Amino acid sequence: MRHWTLDDIPWGAFDPARVDPELLRAIKAAALVEGNADDYVRYLKNVFGGDAAFCAAADQWGAEENQHGAALARWCELADPSFSYEQAMARFRANFRLPLDVTASVRGSLAGELITRCVVECGTSSFYSAIRDATDEPVLKAVAHKIAGDEFRHYKLFETHLRRYQPREGLSLVRRLRLAIGRVQEASDDELAMAYWCANQPPEPYDRKRHSDAYAARAWRLYRFGHVQRGVGMALKAVGLNPQGRLSALLARFGYRFLAWKAARLELA
Ligand SMILES: [Fe+2]
Ligand SMILES: [Fe+2]
Repeated sequence: MRHWTLDDIPWGAFDPARVDPELLRAIKAAALVEGNADDYVRYLKNVFGGDAAFCAAADQWGAEENQHGAALARWCELADPSFSYEQAMARFRANFRLPLDVTASVRGSLAGELITRCVVECGTSSFYSAIRDATDEPVLKAVAHKIAGDEFRHYKLFETHLRRYQPREGLSLVRRLRLAIGRVQEASDDELAMAYWCANQPPEPYDRKRHSDAYAARAWRLYRFGHVQRGVGMALKAVGLNPQGRLSALLARFGYRFLAWKAARLELA
């Protein structure tokens, strides 16, 4: 199947009256993280150097993530003509770098690396599904719909490779759970917070907590229960647990309540 291109997006349907300026701030940050995919490809190819099939898949994956960045950037520049993606990306690259000089996964194992990749794609597929369902700006809706579809496929891609590596490495359930929970917690690390700061250039200096909260305040209010439920199910499946069992239902309810509570507490500062 042909992968979509920027020409498949109905840019002419853009409606400036339907742009939510607070959501725009979060999308600018997301565009930078997506557009930084080349570094992730380098990192993954360093780590999976002996696996030609995986390295080829990583190249294709990176091309798609870069396209997400380009599509979101174009929408941001339509919505805010004063925004320069190129300049924002230069600021982001100057301030945030992945560990590229490694040859082994920072997760301690290849199966572990793939579990965390699955968790990331759970997060992105839920996030773009939530944007698609929350916005009534037609171009952003179309972009988010295309990206969400890719993110679900990316999850499947990493999960397929995880099924090859997990039997070889035999990571225990506790270790798999720890890796998945640890990666969820990393959502409040520097990457998104720095992207938010670089993309929006608030007057104050960078502060991880403050700008992580600023991003979360705009992103988390978009989620409906179904988005959280699906994301939780996918994450549990990657860990090797039943995606539709009682634990999944419990975590989805708890996760959704937590997100809603946190979003209500965080100010749109
Ligand atoms: Fe993406
Ligand atoms: Fe992805």
